[in-house]
Amino acid sequence: VHNCDSRADMGVLPHALVLPYPAQGHVIPLMELSHCLVDHGFRITFVNTEFNHDRVVAALQIDGTMEQINLVSVPDGLDQEEDRNDLGRLTEGLMKTMPLCLEELIRKSSEAGDRITCMIVDESIAWALEIAKKMGLRPAAFWPASAQLLATLLSIPELTSKGVIDADGAATRQEMFQLGPGMPPMNTAHFVWNCIGDRRTQCTVFNCILDNNRAIEISEFVICNSFKEIEEPVFASAPRILPVGPLLTGLRPRRPAGHFWPEDTTCMSWLDEQPLSSVIYASFGSFTIFDRRQFQELALGLEATGRPFLWVVRPDLTTASGDAYPPGFEARVAGRGRMVAWSPQHRVLAHPSVGCFLSHCGWNSTMEGISNGVLFLCWPYFADQFLNQSFICDVWKVGLRLMPDESGIVKQERIKSKVEELLGDEEMRSKALLLKDTAHRNISRGGSSSQNLQAFVDAMKTSTK
Ligand code: UDX
Repeated sequence: VHNCDSRADMGVLPHALVLPYPAQGHVIPLMELSHCLVDHGFRITFVNTEFNHDRVVAALQIDGTMEQINLVSVPDGLDQEEDRNDLGRLTEGLMKTMPLCLEELIRKSSEAGDRITCMIVDESIAWALEIAKKMGLRPAAFWPASAQLLATLLSIPELTSKGVIDADGAATRQEMFQLGPGMPPMNTAHFVWNCIGDRRTQCTVFNCILDNNRAIEISEFVICNSFKEIEEPVFASAPRILPVGPLLTGLRPRRPAGHFWPEDTTCMSWLDEQPLSSVIYASFGSFTIFDRRQFQELALGLEATGRPFLWVVRPDLTTASGDAYPPGFEARVAGRGRMVAWSPQHRVLAHPSVGCFLSHCGWNSTMEGISNGVLFLCWPYFADQFLNQSFICDVWKVGLRLMPDESGIVKQERIKSKVEELLGDEEMRSKALLLKDTAHRNISRGGSSSQNLQAFVDAMKTSTK
């Protein structure tokens, strides 16, 4: 990452308001982007919802490194006890409450002599770019998932006119749809707007996407957490989407990453004691939920591999109440298996003892895995995770699918046999190492993503009139 002059044109310190969508997989990459901007001389006002702000602050374990990043919060429009995983309600609440609060925040900052000069908005709430326009700030959008997913959202009019979806976004038939040559096909049943909640929620989310598609026209830049070589056909057909990734907080272990749960770093010394490339790291992001049966089958599968494993068991990973582990499991795997509520995932994946990543294929996990050259065992849960699985298994060829059986369960025997197959595949391992090199070349001085970031920074540093 280059260090630049910290003064913007006309002597004003560049000051970005950064606004993530209120979900873990969005806050983390935008926090990392904020750290990159700080390295380029920016001050940051990072706006979480009040609900998430309290979690981020409670999970912070590092002091004194936030001088250039001011964490602030605005309400999300929901009552304290409402479910933030109800994305329909959340979307409505944000649209209703946020605009006025953001305008006030921007105004107050100016009055205090600390003018905000640009606004970097998560594309999932791109409607907030209207505020940047109204308040005279440079507008930019950030997309935290694959460029292909964004290109799909932007192609909704085409999907409708081709009859792939109806006017409300519902898939007219279940089929594999290919956005363009060289791009992995997507199952229409997995279109993001059709994976969330009931039909009413899906319509709310679909309409919000249409609003975002309109608002993104205002944006001077659309940057995303990807890099050129892994999605070349999409970047060729949608040149407006500019890759600046991979965004890797692992490269800055002393900086806060915006986690909602405190990291359990005790697993790092446990990893130090394990043989090279031996550990199965199992982690399913912030959203995945298993029922008791699948949760127990997964536990038994990890046990059956006979290998060391590190398993992230979030407090809400399973719907099972009480002790959800199979009887005697914890005692049997003691020493060989380690369960943590939340790991320092970037550091875990970079650890030489990790051999493979049993993953739900969230885009951040995908980028972190390929940037560390690990092999994937893919177990997608919903939405774009199926597309990410196709990238991993069919395009980059650095992982295998872990499919459920006819009863819809991923059985322990299959987990064991797929781990063996994966770890024995030397060709796949060399591909993973090449991909790791490519990822790091992109963010090194002169690399393609690094140059894109520089172009973005230079534009954002120039003041509006
Ligand atoms: C969601 C979607 O699943 C994903 O597909 C979309 O692209 C972004 O939003 P999530 O399910 O949380 O995100 O998964 P992922 O994208 O992988 O993000 C999880 C983040 O949490 C990663 O940055 C990961 O490093 C971090 N994490 C996860 C930890 O730091 N510790 C953990 O124990 C688990």
